[in-house]
Amino acid sequence: MILSIESSCDDSSISITQIETNKLIYHKKISQELQHSIYGGVVPELAARLHIEALPKILEECKEYFPKLKAIAVTNAPGLSVTLTEGVTMAKALVISLNLPLIAVNHLKGHIYSLFIEKDEILPMTVLLVSGGHTQIIQANSLNDMKVIASTMDDSFGESFDKVSKMLGLGYPGGPVVQEYALKGDDLRFVLPIPLSQSPKIEFSYSGLKNAVRMQIEKLENSEFGMNEQDKYDICASFQKTAVLHIVQKLKKLFKQNIPKNFAIVGGASANIYLRAQLEELCDKHNTNLYLSELKYCSDNAAMIGRVAVEQYKQNDFILISDIDVQSRIK
Ligand code: KG4
Ligand code: ZN
Repeated sequence: MILSIESSCDDSSISITQIETNKLIYHKKISQELQHSIYGGVVPELAARLHIEALPKILEECKEYFPKLKAIAVTNAPGLSVTLTEGVTMAKALVISLNLPLIAVNHLKGHIYSLFIEKDEILPMTVLLVSGGHTQIIQANSLNDMKVIASTMDDSFGESFDKVSKMLGLGYPGGPVVQEYALKGDDLRFVLPIPLSQSPKIEFSYSGLKNAVRMQIEKLENSEFGMNEQDKYDICASFQKTAVLHIVQKLKKLFKQNIPKNFAIVGGASANIYLRAQLEELCDKHNTNLYLSELKYCSDNAAMIGRVAVEQYKQNDFILISDIDVQSRIK
């Protein structure tokens, strides 16, 4: 079995995965969403402090599996340096005390392998990764052959939901609450610009859309009657539709160049039901198989890190504790 640790952002999570079967023997995650909510986003130093409290608590529950462990895995990049460090420090301590090899796992590969938790790997696949930190299209041919074919020039898809939520005073994380509000809203009321719609390039941008929403909110706030709940519902609906249409437009361009046999959406924001529905339609039209992670594995978790770790273990892809470092970004 492999014990895997994830602490790249605001979720403290540990999993134990059986190497031969991919079976998830143990999995727990303690989310810090509530503690960060009042700040409208993740505060790195607070997140690090909360990991220091949560990770040992979870580890305590795993002790019975220690004699069966063959390796320790940990997310070391990309993510917040101060929070990654907490997971890596715990991993190093376990490696020394249990005399086991160490596996360094890339968080983005983890999101892709969230599709294969307790399942066999299905690759090659074209993957849309949408999270709080990333908006990317990745051509994943194998664990060691992945290429980013498009990314965002500024904000990420999930981040734009977080920022709109903050502007409307709806707390963090923004995705679920904006999606909820959008259900009650009229998505035709506000016409917002679809980002980069005239550009032939396949790339993303969300800062312009965020500013358009900000201006609309200011207009409503300064109006005679101020902004009411229905206005907020309508803003969320119009924003969500535009944010998703931006992705759909760019994917249509990509599918024109080359129709993928297998396509997947992963990452925390892949839980978005409007995005899922739009991409189901697109894939249906092109006879492309669409793969989605289970909802509980969309956001950050150690089960996905464990799934990657199993593959790395089989490839003898280990790292010395003196060589592992944390990287906030992948160069
Ligand atoms: O993957 P994740 O848990 O953490 C990162 O690695 O960033 O993703 C969290 C992000 C947050 O920005 C959150 O607002 C967004 O995913 N998110 C959503 C939804 N659920 C979570 N965005 C849009 N719609 C949702 N339903
Ligand atoms: Zn993530």
